[in-house]
Amino acid sequence: MPRTPVTVTVTGAAGQIGYALLFRIASGQLLGPDTPVRLKLLEITPALKAAEGTAMEIDDCAFPLLTGIDISDDPNVAFDGANVALLVGARPRTKGMERGDLLEANGGIFKPQGRAINDHAADDIKVLVVGNPANTNALIARAAAPDVPAERFTAMTRLDHNRALTQLSKKTGAPLSDITRLTIWGNHSATQYPDIFHAEIAGKNAAEVVNDETWLAEEFIPTVAKRGAAVIEVRGASSAASAANAAIDHVHTWVNGTPEGDWTSMAVPSDGSYGVPEGLISSFPVTTEDGAYEIVQGLELNAFSRTRIDASVAELAEEREAVRGLGLL
Ligand code: NAD
Ligand code: LMR
Repeated sequence: MPRTPVTVTVTGAAGQIGYALLFRIASGQLLGPDTPVRLKLLEITPALKAAEGTAMEIDDCAFPLLTGIDISDDPNVAFDGANVALLVGARPRTKGMERGDLLEANGGIFKPQGRAINDHAADDIKVLVVGNPANTNALIARAAAPDVPAERFTAMTRLDHNRALTQLSKKTGAPLSDITRLTIWGNHSATQYPDIFHAEIAGKNAAEVVNDETWLAEEFIPTVAKRGAAVIEVRGASSAASAANAAIDHVHTWVNGTPEGDWTSMAVPSDGSYGVPEGLISSFPVTTEDGAYEIVQGLELNAFSRTRIDASVAELAEEREAVRGLGLL
């Protein structure tokens, strides 16, 4: 018996992440090889034609799991019946734009999208915000969706998590599959804190295996935290395929569960854990099972970690104050 298709809405479908993401969703990599998918694409009106071009190419792949593609410039249509929503489209910072301008411009996108999710999405909706500033955009969307359980709104730090895994693997020579329990804390920004103090390499404490505080503070953390800017510098455009890959990983893990003994990093609404003010959408170590996640509890944080987590969380609190001041919450 074929399963009922899962409706996946993707915003910013004509953008570069969209192009790297949609084919993978349609091929079954987001939800698994047994789950049929219906795609709903949201774009702004001038980009609808480009989205149609991408949809033509998706059709031409003849993906057996894909049951259809709809394209719209109306959030109320695009989120209708959505089970999974990937909010990728966002307003990039342009020349002369202040931080407040950026937050305001994105408020104009994520507030109506949050409302449309509230009014039209399926009861089991899961939302991943990729568009930057991802954590605060997720906060805006969540605030506009009071009827949706807050925990369904998440933001992406899985790309940071994957970047940190690779840096740690390169430093130690350990295969990626041996590394577990790495954590990204805080904001998807340069203040984020990639934490190896609880990570393990083949069961041994990663910080002890590395045993190099200078590398940790002066190479590992800045390399991971500033990797997005470094890719822009070298590639001439922001990360696209790696961001799409992380979005697939995030939702796949949320739906299918974390492996026994391991966890992942997701930015989720804080319940006050680890002193992060309630409601801020901050990255934590999380385990997932049966489509739900839980923040890992009881980790002891040393002073080095505490200072860095506090700095990133303070930035999130400032962003929340800024969007509150703009009437977006
Ligand atoms: P892009 O400019 O190539 O594409 C963005 C698309 O969004 C465009 O096609 C645009 O028309 C569309 N869009 C704009 N406003 C929209 C709206 N209101 N509704 C629907 N679509 C809308 O950008 P990209 O490279 O695909 O990146 C998208 C976002 O992802 C950016 O904000 C980028 O900074 C962010 N990003 C986040 C991470 C992360 O780890 N969280 C990583 C990489 C990129
Ligand atoms: C990334 O981490 O690659 C992006 O968030 C960078 C960006 O500014 O788009």
